Amino acid sequence: MLYSGENTLCYAIPGKLVAIKGNIGVVDYFGEHRNVLIDTDAKVGEYVYAQGGVLISKVSKEEAEETLALWKEQFFALKKVDQKLSSVKKTGKESANTLAILQKVNVGKQLSKEDMLALLKLDNAAELKLVYDTANNLRQKRNDNACCVHGILEFSNYCKNNCHYCGIRKSSRIKRYRMTPDEIIAAAEHAVKELGFKAIVLQSGEDEWYDDERLARIVREIRAMGVLVFISIGVRSKETYKRLYDAGARAVLLRFETSNRKTFDALRPGTNLDERLELIKYAKKLGYILATGFIVGLPGETDEDLIDNILLTRSLGADMYSFGPLIPAEETPLEKQKPTTKEMLLKTIALTRFADPEAKILVTTAFETLDKDARREGLLAGANSLMLNITPVQFRKLYRIYPGRPDTDKKIEEGIKQTVELLYSLGRAPTDLGI
Ligand code: 5AD
Ligand code: SF4
Repeated sequence: MLYSGENTLCYAIPGKLVAIKGNIGVVDYFGEHRNVLIDTDAKVGEYVYAQGGVLISKVSKEEAEETLALWKEQFFALKKVDQKLSSVKKTGKESANTLAILQKVNVGKQLSKEDMLALLKLDNAAELKLVYDTANNLRQKRNDNACCVHGILEFSNYCKNNCHYCGIRKSSRIKRYRMTPDEIIAAAEHAVKELGFKAIVLQSGEDEWYDDERLARIVREIRAMGVLVFISIGVRSKETYKRLYDAGARAVLLRFETSNRKTFDALRPGTNLDERLELIKYAKKLGYILATGFIVGLPGETDEDLIDNILLTRSLGADMYSFGPLIPAEETPLEKQKPTTKEMLLKTIALTRFADPEAKILVTTAFETLDKDARREGLLAGANSLMLNITPVQFRKLYRIYPGRPDTDKKIEEGIKQTVELLYSLGRAPTDLGI
């Protein structure tokens, strides 16, 4: 029996806190131990939920035992499916060079830039399949079958910037909206209480209508629901990031967009790569879980740029990689740019897995927009993380960073159902067991 209620699902399996060393706790899940950062005053012996490696809330013994009873059988059944799907079979058609590079991955060696370039240049199906399978196998060996599923709430489409690729840039003549703090909190509450989300990503354009006080209140109230709060609000002052950490936000999503300075300067007028990188580093230093990354397929991008983007993400200490294809948006300077290919995205996922075996790698909405099988194929090429849109439907279509988003009219419940079905079919547990 698969565990999912009417419209809800279990986004985290409760575990028992079995040890505490300083601010690190050890949580037991059916005999498997994981380390988590303690962010709640739980005691050894109590049941807890963890998300993104953070112990976010306690759970009563009764609730934990009930959930665990439902999960027990499935926990091991899913792992078996995943193990089977992540085995690697060679066809005999692969070149000696490709096999030699993938062998380095298999024995735990880091690939050189030259190796990465060689993999990026591959174009025959058999070799590419072996690359994706190897990445999926590495994901399975190092991270098991957990797939975190976060809910993303797009609360304002106002932005003071004018990035050339973005559909909600300042000069776009789109209908703008701002959710009030109360609306944001209510939408989050629905996602947490009715739909079972354990991590909420708060995303907007760079919109200073939300001053520190408003943001801090929103974060505080959502954190009090016992979930992980992610902020994705662009470049704001260091004080703002510090204040929101103090209010209970524990994760930041802020892409550097591209490591190529020329491209950055040409496409993001009035903004500055160094300032962005410094803020990302500051957030990491404050203790935030860091999700960062880049856009794949910006004008003039070379294979070397793409590899530099992966390596920069790693050097920033990303816990989660967030990258997606450029989707040309109407009435933006890049509307005529050729979209990136699915193959390029899958290669980027696989290379990222090789570069950072333990990382969380997201299949982003932009990738899902590019190709309807993105989730499935991305999860089978090394990815292990998803975001579901929990923005109220009336606002969703206005958050038009790029056109063609697959989920603009779909009810959240429908999206959840499809996601759970997909994850189960791949042997993945829609949960997050910690680090
Ligand atoms: N295509 C793909 N991604 C885009 N973003 C902005 N515009 C586009 C586009 N046209 C991404 C940026 C930003 C994130 C919220 O959306 O990387 O960080
Ligand atoms: Fe604003 Fe971000 Fe869009 Fe740039 S990419 S215009 S900062 S929302």
